[in-house]
Amino acid sequence: MIVPGSASQELAAALASELDEPLAAVEYDRFADGETLVRVPDGDDRAVVVASTVSDTAHVELLQLQDAARSQAEEVVTVLPYMGYARQDEAFEAGQPVSARAMARAISTGTDRVVTVNPHEGVVCDFFDVPCTPVDAAGRLAESLPELVDPLFLSPDAGAIGLAETVRNAYGVGETDYFEKIRHSDTDVEIRPNDADTTGRDVVLVDDIIATGSTMSTAIAQLSDPSRVFVTCVHPMLAANARTKLATAGVDAVYGTDTIERAVSAVSVAPTVAEEL
Ligand code: R5P
Repeated sequence: MIVPGSASQELAAALASELDEPLAAVEYDRFADGETLVRVPDGDDRAVVVASTVSDTAHVELLQLQDAARSQAEEVVTVLPYMGYARQDEAFEAGQPVSARAMARAISTGTDRVVTVNPHEGVVCDFFDVPCTPVDAAGRLAESLPELVDPLFLSPDAGAIGLAETVRNAYGVGETDYFEKIRHSDTDVEIRPNDADTTGRDVVLVDDIIATGSTMSTAIAQLSDPSRVFVTCVHPMLAANARTKLATAGVDAVYGTDTIERAVSAVSVAPTVAEEL
């Protein structure tokens, strides 16, 4: 039985269809004091909880779903299409928590294993007290792209070049390259131009996540006279005015997956996740 979190209902339905497993009609409630409550109908021996932890509320809801599922199913598998707090994978200053570890420990208590999609760093999986399998769904982004002319697949920093290569390989043709990125703050990033020639070419920017949109919009500003600019990411968080930032930066289209359900979620990670279930 596939048990959806309220923020992952599209993906959960796609996964149920992919696996030919029943989809639980979970009820989500909220009390007057703001606390949430869920009700999971009785189901199979195995419950697969599918919930992106896109907010603190979604984290609490996931723990509730796991607990409800645990009281009915013999095995609980947790699919974290997008794991919130994963970018806080170290204590950046003395006295700070490793927030990704704290979240992973809490999630581990309610499940037998975890499957997560393109975690920000692989180390995140080590934080769980149960087996955690990372899956790479970046290749699916190639399905969303139109026919490209002389394409260049660019990552905004060296760390994401593997994703750009994965999308290029899935698309079948094109060059890859990356920018050098220096982050000054949450919203202030500096991108150093590289020597890749972008004049008259279709440029596909690839990253794991677009959060504030600062990284992508700054990267777009470095492109010299491209033909078209497509922005792709696995996790289209698109917080605050990120989508507008990208539009004003001159992007032709934004494509993401359904790990975070947004208007730009053009492709589903369901087939990739299903292979691990
Ligand atoms: C950082 O290393 C990540 O790969 C992303 O580039 C970053 O988190 C995106 O954040 P934002 O959209 O806020 O610049």
